[in-house]
Amino acid sequence: MEKIKQIWRSLIWSYDPKDKIEATKATSKNFWLHWFPARTTYKSMSITYSFWLGTVLFSLFIILTITGVILMFLYIPSTERAYWTIKDLENSVSFGWFLRNAHRWAAHLMVTAVFLHMARVFFTGAYKNGGNPEANRPLNWIVGVILLILTLALSYTGYLLPWDQLALWAIVIGANIAKSVPPENIVGESLYFFLAGGTQIDQNTLIRFYVLHCIFLPILLLVLSSYHMWRIRKDGGLAVSEQYKIEAKKQNKRLIQDEYTTFTIPFLFRRVFMIFLVTTAIVLFFSVFAKAPLEEPADPSWTPNPAKAPWYFLWIQELITITTVKIGDFTINGGFLGGALIPALLFLLWAVWPYLDKSPDEATGVWFHKSRIVHNIIFAIILIILIAVTIFAMYFRGPYWQVYWPWRWPEIPHMF
Ligand code: HEM
Repeated sequence: MEKIKQIWRSLIWSYDPKDKIEATKATSKNFWLHWFPARTTYKSMSITYSFWLGTVLFSLFIILTITGVILMFLYIPSTERAYWTIKDLENSVSFGWFLRNAHRWAAHLMVTAVFLHMARVFFTGAYKNGGNPEANRPLNWIVGVILLILTLALSYTGYLLPWDQLALWAIVIGANIAKSVPPENIVGESLYFFLAGGTQIDQNTLIRFYVLHCIFLPILLLVLSSYHMWRIRKDGGLAVSEQYKIEAKKQNKRLIQDEYTTFTIPFLFRRVFMIFLVTTAIVLFFSVFAKAPLEEPADPSWTPNPAKAPWYFLWIQELITITTVKIGDFTINGGFLGGALIPALLFLLWAVWPYLDKSPDEATGVWFHKSRIVHNIIFAIILIILIAVTIFAMYFRGPYWQVYWPWRWPEIPHMF
């Protein structure tokens, strides 16, 4: 009986530390919590350092997994049935609308949070090692860039599943971008075939996106994000923790662990749990008050005008328009330039940025450090351009992708 109790406690709960030794054992002896270090630095728990955005992201991933698994019991990935299973969710299944809303809003919040988290890491110079020879934070930043791409891919593959007009035409836009990668008859067509599972968007595409969305991409994201969070521990905690060592070195002082760290259980764990609860509350709030859109059933013979990509890809759609330039008889291929090449170069630049940043160790884990001003300005300009272009495409592009004042244009199609 005692043995069973012990196993149960090791799996479920171990928060009742009465002294230092117990507090340490609370993390090391628990199956789930030994992911955390036994002690955490005070600086890394400050809300205004990280805004806990990484924890928000992981909480959203958990909410998406739970709601997604329940949705799998109800959804049928068939072009004939998919739309109507979603209609059933909306109208006949008890709380089906709520489940669908929760999944949809958590996905949009995750895409928003992943960009905010990346910006926070950048502006705090948290991809730097700060003179710690055992850390490899630039590697964790690269893992982060891959996580960003995976998050976008997960959201995009889910967008197709309701098989309504919104879904179908968003995928048509994406697949056509893939088709325009030169040489079009070799690379472009192969990419299109890979995405669509054939020469047109049909049942093969739906089943392909379904498997990617429900199995392949979530597993990849889970494995990579686990590695991402484990690396933080291996790198010696959040980058701001390096500030203690830098300060001690300056003052020629020895670091005393009790002065700059505290026990993970309960102090860090309690905060992580609260962030999870707050994130859940925000998702529930959105789910009750904002309905997830569902348009007419997908109809390949009728193109909505304008056909818009989901909001997080609108900047790419706009870039395609900007880079499609006619010079005499020659037309620059915007589909490839704005749709594939520029975004690919941008992600590559993001990935290698830590290796271009030669600022001093003191700039590690500090918001807007003066030695990184040029980096911060360039990064901020890129973000502002992306946001401005997205807003422009969202509110100022109307039928035939012409420019309209939003108040002159009666209806703005759904982008969520
Ligand atoms: C699914 C996506 C992601 C998850 C679940 C995730 C999770 C986390 C968590 C839990 C932390 C701890 C600090 C915090 O809460 O802010 C963290 C830190 C970090 N993340 Fe992410 N992250 C993701 C995406 C990204 C992206 C897109 C980047 C950058 C391109 C990135 C780069 C980093 C770096 C470098 C740190 C260390 C920051 C520091 O030391 O202050 N992560 N991440």
